[in-house]
Amino acid sequence: MTNANLKPKILLLENIHPIAKERLEAEGFVVDLLTHAPDEAELIKILPPYTAVGIRSKTEITKKVLESLNNLSCIGCFCIGTNQVDLAAAKEKGIAVFNAPHSNTRSVAELVIAEMIALSRQLGDRNSKAHIGEWVKSAEGSKEVRGKTLGIIGYGHIGSQVSVLAEAMGLKVIFFDTVKKLPLGNARSSSHLSELLAESDFVTLHVPEVPETMNMIGKDQLLKMKKGSYLINASRGSVVVIEDLVEALKSKHIAGCAVDVFPVEPASNKEKFVSPLQGLSNVILTPHIGGSTEEAQKSIGAEVAESFRRFLKIGSTSGAVNFPNVDLPVKMGTSRMLNVHKNEPGVLGEINGIISVAGANIEGQYLSTDNRIGYLVMDVHSSQVDLLAAEISKLKRSIRTRVVY
Ligand code: NAI
Repeated sequence: MTNANLKPKILLLENIHPIAKERLEAEGFVVDLLTHAPDEAELIKILPPYTAVGIRSKTEITKKVLESLNNLSCIGCFCIGTNQVDLAAAKEKGIAVFNAPHSNTRSVAELVIAEMIALSRQLGDRNSKAHIGEWVKSAEGSKEVRGKTLGIIGYGHIGSQVSVLAEAMGLKVIFFDTVKKLPLGNARSSSHLSELLAESDFVTLHVPEVPETMNMIGKDQLLKMKKGSYLINASRGSVVVIEDLVEALKSKHIAGCAVDVFPVEPASNKEKFVSPLQGLSNVILTPHIGGSTEEAQKSIGAEVAESFRRFLKIGSTSGAVNFPNVDLPVKMGTSRMLNVHKNEPGVLGEINGIISVAGANIEGQYLSTDNRIGYLVMDVHSSQVDLLAAEISKLKRSIRTRVVY
C-alpha cells in the first residue's frame, strides 16, 4: 500500500498540549482531538482512518487494537513511559512508537535545586509550623548551600543539568556514573560510589530503574554518607530502601530528605498515599511531580509532534522506542520509499531483484535491522517510486511500504 497522495490524519487523545495540534496542522496534517482515554473497543472503532495516534499514559494500545489496524503508521506517547503500548506487537505491524523522554529534564533539575535549599533551611517544617501558629525563629541547623558539596549519582540528562545549576549557586559538584561522562564546568567525577557518599553534603539520585539500581541506597550506603547530610530522590522509588532511610532519619545520621518517587505510588489522585516517611521531621514528600510542569507538557507536545512530522514526511525513526533508528537527509530530485519487512534471510535479495527487473535508478538505499524487522529507506527517481513500492509491498515478508514524497 502506498499513501503518498493521502493527507495523513492524526488523532490526539487525552488533552495533549495544544502546541502539538498547532504544529501538525501547520505541516498540513489533519488533526482530530478527543479529551478522554478510549477503551479497547472504542479504539478499535475509531482508529482505522488514522495514520498516527497520540496518547498519554491512560490509553492502552493492546495487541488486539494493533491487529485491527491497517492504516496506522505510528504512535506518539506524549509522556515518558511507553508501557501502555504493546511495543512488540506494534513492531510486528510495522508501527513506530515515539515518546518524549527528555522534555521534562529541566523541570526535575529545578525541583532538586529547590529541595536542596528547602532541606538546608528546614523550609518544609517551618512552613507547616507557621501555618499552625508556631513561630520558630532560629538559625540552628540552617545553612547556606553555597560552598557545600553536591554528589550526583547518575550524570545523564537530569544529573548534568542539576550539576550546571548547582555550580551557578556556588556548590562544589562531584558525580558518580557507571559510564564515563564529560564533567561539565568544574564538576569532578568520583571513581567510587562510596567516595561520593563520604564527601557530599547533599546526595541526589538520577539513575534509571534497572536491576543494578534496585535498592542501590540502603543501610550501608546511608551510613557511608556524612553525618548531617541530605538525600534527594527524584529518580525511581525502587532505588532507595525506604525503611533504611527512615532509620537513618530517626537516628539523625541523615538530617533530612526530599523524596518524589516511591516504591508504591497511588494509581490516581483519588487514591490515598501512605509512606513510612510521613510525619518525620525535615522530610519533603512530593507526589512524583519532578517533571510535572506546564513547560514540560508543552515541550512534550512539541517534541512528539516533531517526531511525527519527521517520521511521516521523511521516514526518520530517530527516537522511536521499538524500531531501528534511521535519520537520513532528504535527497533533492528523488522520491523516498520506506519499507518495513520481517528480518529474515533473503528479503533484501527479493527487494533488489524487483529493483533490478524495473531497471530503477536508486539514488540512495539504507537498511537498518533489529532481531525482528528491517527498515529500508530508498531514494528513487520519482517516476519509478510508485511502481517499485507497489511491487515491494506485495512481497510476503513485507509488513508495510509507503512513499513519503
Ligand atoms: P539518563 O538516562 O539521561 O541518565 C541516567 C544516568 O544514570 C546515565 O548517565 C547512566 O549511565 C547512569 N547510570 C545508570 N546506572 C547507574 C548506576 N548503577 N550507577 C550510577 N549511574 C548509573 O536519564 P535521565 O533522563 O537523567 O533520568 C534519570 C532518572 O530520572 C530516571 O530514573 C527517570 O525515570 C527519572 N525521572 C523522574 C521524573 C520525576 O518526575 N521525578 C521525571 C523524569 C525522569
